[in-house]
Amino acid sequence: MRTYLVTGGAGFIGSNYIHYMFEKYGDDIRIINVDALTYAGNLENLKAVENRPNYTFVKADITDKDAIGKIFAENDIDRVVHFAAESHVDRSIRNPEVFVKTNVIGTAVMLNCAKAAWELPDGGFKEDKKFLHVSTDEVYGSLPDDENAFFYETSPYDPHSPYSASKAGSDMLVKSYMDTYKFPANITNCSNNYGPFQFPEKLIPLIINNALQGKKLPVYGDGKNVRDWLYVRDHAKAIDMVQEKGKLFETYNVGGHNEKQNIEIIEIILETLQEMLPDNDPRKAHVSKELITYVEDRKGHDRRYAIAPDKIRADLGWEPETMFKDGIKLTIQWYFENEDWMKRVTSGDYQKYYEEMYQ
Ligand code: NAD
Ligand code: TYD
Repeated sequence: MRTYLVTGGAGFIGSNYIHYMFEKYGDDIRIINVDALTYAGNLENLKAVENRPNYTFVKADITDKDAIGKIFAENDIDRVVHFAAESHVDRSIRNPEVFVKTNVIGTAVMLNCAKAAWELPDGGFKEDKKFLHVSTDEVYGSLPDDENAFFYETSPYDPHSPYSASKAGSDMLVKSYMDTYKFPANITNCSNNYGPFQFPEKLIPLIINNALQGKKLPVYGDGKNVRDWLYVRDHAKAIDMVQEKGKLFETYNVGGHNEKQNIEIIEIILETLQEMLPDNDPRKAHVSKELITYVEDRKGHDRRYAIAPDKIRADLGWEPETMFKDGIKLTIQWYFENEDWMKRVTSGDYQKYYEEMYQ
């Protein structure tokens, strides 16, 4: 049985990945989820799996080398899937240091602990051990408003925000371990994700939540910045495919081929909410374009991100499977069905769950 060490599994993508993996492999794998439970970590995301005998949660900070070393010492880890990070650009502009600490130092600790556990006396590594570093397309910087311009695995790194700079630093560390030690790793650089369990500081859940409450919908700048949106489950599948079928030491870009301006995203959400809300729902009256409010632009706001996922398609046969029109309905339906989740997240109550569950 393969044992996975997943970092940041209580966050948005990590929790979706854990659900995907248990649905795919059932009792054939074991997952240890290590998460510090920052504001972005929510164990409620994992309620459906918390009683599985092949799932374990460990509350620890990835910058704590003793805690991480202990997990490797006590378990024969076969796969590391490293999601844990500070992930929100706006927060990185206000408070860059914690991004450097978690994203750079934390990744160094993860690499060092995995290397120490997997290294053989001759300098090689135990067989079939693999580390996957989950990164972002934001490390490549910003593309011009030209629909033929894409990020490729060979694009130069040119990060602009403290978030993307810290992720670029973490990618470079992973690359250095592969080059220096032949450390068995892969890197994935993915575009913007959306779907269930996303913290409502990010554009899509923020707009859904605000619109349903009749609150203003803040649009940064002219609203024409472009992001390439991928349904989170498609990302989870890509990560598993890269780890199991990808060539070691390679980087794979993962993207939705689904570029949209922010203002288009907001309009699609408003139209879809109108379509999905029943006629007798009082919220239907205030879900409207009148809520759209242009606000001051984000500092250093990257104009356009777009990935051509040619390599992962050609080498591994991965394709984005969920069309945006379907993915956004699935996402809105999930937020409809999980209003309590949203209430607890926005009130801060979700952070009590760990104490109630685990103490
Ligand atoms: P998230 O903010 O929702 O979750 C991050 C998780 O990491 C949380 O559970 C948090 O508690 C945990 N964490 C933070 N600091 C920690 C620390 N020091 N020790 C242990 N755990 C810690 O983030 P996400 O959106 O799920 O992103 C996951 C990964 O995917 C990140 O590495 C991010 O850079 C990358 N990524 C995200 C996107 C996106 O659109 N969200 C796109 C591409 C790549
Ligand atoms: P975000 O979800 O923060 O992801 P990222 O910055 O990592 O791409 O933002 C997506 C886009 O939406 C980005 O161009 C900034 C913009 N945005 C707004 O216009 N208003 C908002 O309230 C937020 C959170 C983001």
